[in-house]
Amino acid sequence: MKLNIAVLKGDGIGPEVVDQALKVLDAVATKFGHEVKLTEALTGAAAIDAVGNPYPEETHQACMAADAVLFGAIGDPKYDNNPSAPVRPEQGLLEMRKRLGLFANVRPTFTFASLLHKSPLKQERIEGTDFICLRELTGGIYFGDKGRKDDGNTAFDTCIYTREEVIRLAKMGFEYALKRKKKLTLIDKANVLETSRLWRETVQAMEKDYPEVTVEYELVDAAAMRLVQWPKHYDVMITENMFGDIITDEASVIAGSMGLMPSASVGVHTSLFEPIHGSYPQATGKDIANPLATILSLAMMFEYAFNLQDEAKAIRDAVDKSLAEGVVTEDIADGAKAYKTSEVGDWVAQNI
Ligand code: IPM
Ligand code: MN
Repeated sequence: MKLNIAVLKGDGIGPEVVDQALKVLDAVATKFGHEVKLTEALTGAAAIDAVGNPYPEETHQACMAADAVLFGAIGDPKYDNNPSAPVRPEQGLLEMRKRLGLFANVRPTFTFASLLHKSPLKQERIEGTDFICLRELTGGIYFGDKGRKDDGNTAFDTCIYTREEVIRLAKMGFEYALKRKKKLTLIDKANVLETSRLWRETVQAMEKDYPEVTVEYELVDAAAMRLVQWPKHYDVMITENMFGDIITDEASVIAGSMGLMPSASVGVHTSLFEPIHGSYPQATGKDIANPLATILSLAMMFEYAFNLQDEAKAIRDAVDKSLAEGVVTEDIADGAKAYKTSEVGDWVAQNI
């Protein structure tokens, strides 16, 4: 099969970890007989530096023309403490999500048998955790009206949702639940927010179309607590943009390292695959960042964008083997020998 992939390495450790996933991609293509076409494009601070725009038109066209996008990370500390920077790398990410119509961010949380002891949570509480959070990605407070008034002394961000936006995300949630343990949890703040009441009312109305799915409604503050007390409770969660941002970072510690969790963003146009960790500037260029989240994001690409399940499994098996045999970076090496980013990439590629 022809695999036409746009590669957006981005900032910080993005280029290093994406390079490892590309080694694995090459190994998979050779083993399974696929032809790969890569188109690299600029994004984030790297794109601001080069052309003054964090999501240049050329990059958008490369994404639109591809079958899938492999994405590294966006962000640069030189913008973090400068609230008045005229253009920020993160704007590129938001614009990309909007223009590609990536309304659902699929973030799985699962554990690795060989890493249970690395989690800050008790082993018996997390063993067997396996859920998916579908975070709405192109609406809510991220995209509503925002601004200043009263000479800059008052600021506002508006959370806004339409019923259609809720329906398309919830539909995806019900469909995931049908393929899994048939349990769906809507996370909201319906005791306070009108948008949350719209979410709740809309999902309640959809329940009758999915009689096999058990639906549960949970307030986000309670969910934040239960997530670390008993994560096995969850199967498929659906939630709005900002709650999903926060809840999925919280969920990522269950597995023991943020460097392990992949994600897929899907919607109207080309789907995008990225590790959930950020640009990790402190590690940039040191060859120490964990490439496994990006490699597992590549596995999700094979599964979601190309429907090639054997290829995805080959990648996951090689990753499991690297964890079991201790071929890992310093974040999970646990006092044992730590391998370099590039060594882990080579090892996983060789074990495809
Ligand atoms: C994420 C990130 C982004 C978000 C930032 C970088 C804008 O935290 O992908 O979760 O908040 O969506
Ligand atoms: Mn986030």
